[in-house]
Amino acid sequence: MPENVLRLSHLSKRFKGVKAVENLTLEVQVGECFGFLGPNGAGKTTTISMILGLLRPTGGRVEVFGRPVTPEDTTPLREVGALVGAPGFYPYLSGRANLRLLARLYPTVNEARIAAVLGQVGLEAAADRKAKTYSTGMKQRLGLAAALLHRPRLLILDEPTSGLDPVGMAEMRTLLRELTADGVTVFLSSHLLHEVEQVCDRVAVLHRGQLLAQGPVANLLHGHQDLEAFFMAAIAAPSQQ
Ligand SMILES: Nc1ncnc2c1ncn2[C@@H]1O[C@H](COP(=O)(O)OP(=O)(O)OP(=O)(O)O)[C@@H](O)[C@H]1O
Ligand SMILES: [Mg+2]
Repeated sequence: MPENVLRLSHLSKRFKGVKAVENLTLEVQVGECFGFLGPNGAGKTTTISMILGLLRPTGGRVEVFGRPVTPEDTTPLREVGALVGAPGFYPYLSGRANLRLLARLYPTVNEARIAAVLGQVGLEAAADRKAKTYSTGMKQRLGLAAALLHRPRLLILDEPTSGLDPVGMAEMRTLLRELTADGVTVFLSSHLLHEVEQVCDRVAVLHRGQLLAQGPVANLLHGHQDLEAFFMAAIAAPSQQ
């Protein structure tokens, strides 16, 4: 039976009358790339913040590797790497020095591992430049390197390709495929349906906090030209009721 890496059960979040996430239930299995889709304001970042114990759910629960995550107990997140929003770094330190600082948190991360992740994200050439001289895409790459540093078994990425050029996006696709081939599970939110279609096994579509559809990409594509056509049809449906 496939191992359940992430389980959201009836997860809800309200902000003063705004139902940001409503009764969301989904499961992500080991080694898959799961795409979390939805238009602006759908509730993707709110959901990811609850998974990471950064926001307290109004209702429901989050389980990672079969253990509950709450803002008070984030122990199951030790094997999770995450990239949410613009990553923050010490601007006057190099990319490599920033990773060295982070590495102090993890006894198993040595200089060779730092060099390896810098290579994985394509930052070798810029590794010894100050982070403040990095472009948006380079900062995003360094954020990804930081998320990968401790060899997480689950990687949670909120819009990871924002700021990346087409080459960077293609590299990200390759990297995600390599990681899943190594058994890492990826939970990825994105607006870039074409990207998601190429790398994800299953997707869920969230709209106004509600789960509209989920399933294997191949099944959802049935009867639709591509994931974008499916997505447009899915989010148009409720407003016609
Ligand atoms: N701290 C907050 N206080 C009040 N409302 C919030 C807060 N954070 C999010 N919201 C609201 O919750 C809803 C979901 O927002 P969220 O950021 O989760 O959407 P998203 O799917 O990540 O959108 P995007 O694609 O634009 O990143 C929106 O209506 C947003 O205005
Ligand atoms: Mg968001």
